[in-house]
Amino acid sequence: MGPGPVNADPRVLRAMSAQLVGQYDPSMTAYMNETMALYRGVFKTTNEQTLLIDGTSRAGIEAALVSLISPGDRVLVPIFGRFGHLLREIAERAGAEVHAREIEWGTVFTPAQIEQAIRETKPALLAIVHGDTSTTVAQPLDELGDICARHGVLFYTDVTASLAGNTFQADAWGLDAVTAGLQKCLGGPSGSAPATFSPRAVEVINARKSIEAGIREAGDAVNAHPIRSNYFDLSMVFDYWGPKRLNHHTEATTMLYGARECARLLVDEGMDTAVERHRLHGAAMLAGVQGLGLNVFGDLEHRMNNVVAVHIPDGVTDDAVRGELLNDFGIEIGTSFGPLRGLVWRIGTMGYNARKDTVLTTLAALEQVLRRAGASVTGGGGVGAAYEVYQDAAGA
Ligand SMILES: Cc1ncc(COP(=O)(O)O)c(C=O)c1O
Repeated sequence: MGPGPVNADPRVLRAMSAQLVGQYDPSMTAYMNETMALYRGVFKTTNEQTLLIDGTSRAGIEAALVSLISPGDRVLVPIFGRFGHLLREIAERAGAEVHAREIEWGTVFTPAQIEQAIRETKPALLAIVHGDTSTTVAQPLDELGDICARHGVLFYTDVTASLAGNTFQADAWGLDAVTAGLQKCLGGPSGSAPATFSPRAVEVINARKSIEAGIREAGDAVNAHPIRSNYFDLSMVFDYWGPKRLNHHTEATTMLYGARECARLLVDEGMDTAVERHRLHGAAMLAGVQGLGLNVFGDLEHRMNNVVAVHIPDGVTDDAVRGELLNDFGIEIGTSFGPLRGLVWRIGTMGYNARKDTVLTTLAALEQVLRRAGASVTGGGGVGAAYEVYQDAAGA
C-alpha cells in the first residue's frame, strides 16, 4: 500500500508467464498492434504513435525528451516535487537550455503562472509532471494545452503515477507527448513505459531521423545531428512499431505481454470506471487516516486519488511503524524523500490494491501499530470513517 510499485493484478502475472515468440512472429507483431490500439484507449488519444518504450517509467521520459529536444532548445520545467527535478535533469542531459520554475512541495501551479513563464522563457517545449508521487498532488493540465498551442510550444507530461487513477485525456488536453509506467494504477510490474506522441511531436522527432548503419537501406535517412541516444531514438522506435518493422531493438516480449494485459483490464473496466474506483478507495483511505486523528500533507483540493501523505505523529519512529506494518501485517507503506524525508508517510490505493478490503485492513493495522508506538489515535476511527465513505457511495 505504498506509492508504487504495488501488487500486480494476477491476470497480468499470468499473462507474463506465457511462452516467448520470435520478434517477427505474426502473433508478436499482432500483439504489438493490439497493444498500440489498447493504449490509445488508456491515454484517450487517436495518436498513431502510441507504443511501449522498454525500461521503467524514466526510460519513457528519457526517450521523449532526448528525441524531442535538440541541443540548445529552450525547455520550461515547472517543478512541484521530486519528479519535476528529474525532468529538469533529463532535459539538461539532452542538451536543453532549461528554464525551471519551482514552487513549494504540496502545491500546484496556476495556468496563469505557467503562461507567464512561457512568455518569459519562450520555450520550444513545456515538460511537466501530472501527478507527483513525492508530494501526492496532481498538477491540473486541462488548460495548459491551449496555452501551449497559443505560444507554439510542444507539451509533454509524465503520467507515471496518475494514469488510470485520475482523469486524463491526452487529445482533449492538447498533449504532444505523454509517458507512463505500469507499476502504479495500471496494476503491473515496473519495466515498460507506455507512451503516446501527437502528429506534431512525430514530425519534430522524424525530422531528426537517422537509421543506424548496420540496418540502413537505400533511401533511409542519415542525419549529421542524430538524436543523442540510439536506444531511445524514437524515430527508429516508431519504425520498429510501424509497418516498416525496422530491426531496432528486440522488444521485451514478457513486458509486452504484461503491458498488454494491464491495458486490456483497464479498457474492459472502462477508464472512467477505473478512475472512479481510485477516487472511491482513495477517499475512503483519506477519511480513514483523518478518522484516526492523523494530519494530511499537501493541497487537498489537488490531491491525487491514488496516494495520500500523512504527517508522522510526534514522538513516533518512522522505521519502527513501517517495520511493524510490514513484518506483522505484511503491509508496506511508503516513506518520503527530499524536504519531506522523515516527515510524512505515503499510503497508496492504486491498481490492483485499490479495493475496500485493502483499505480497511491497512487502516485497522495502522491503528494498532501506531498505538503500540505510543501515538494517540482514535480507536476504531479509521475503519469507521472509511466505512462511512463506502456507505455514502452505496447510498448515492
Ligand atoms: C511521477 C513519476 N515519474 C517517474 C517515476 C520514475 O519511475 P521509474 O522508477 O519506473 O523509472 C516515478 C516513480 O515513482 C513517478 O512517480
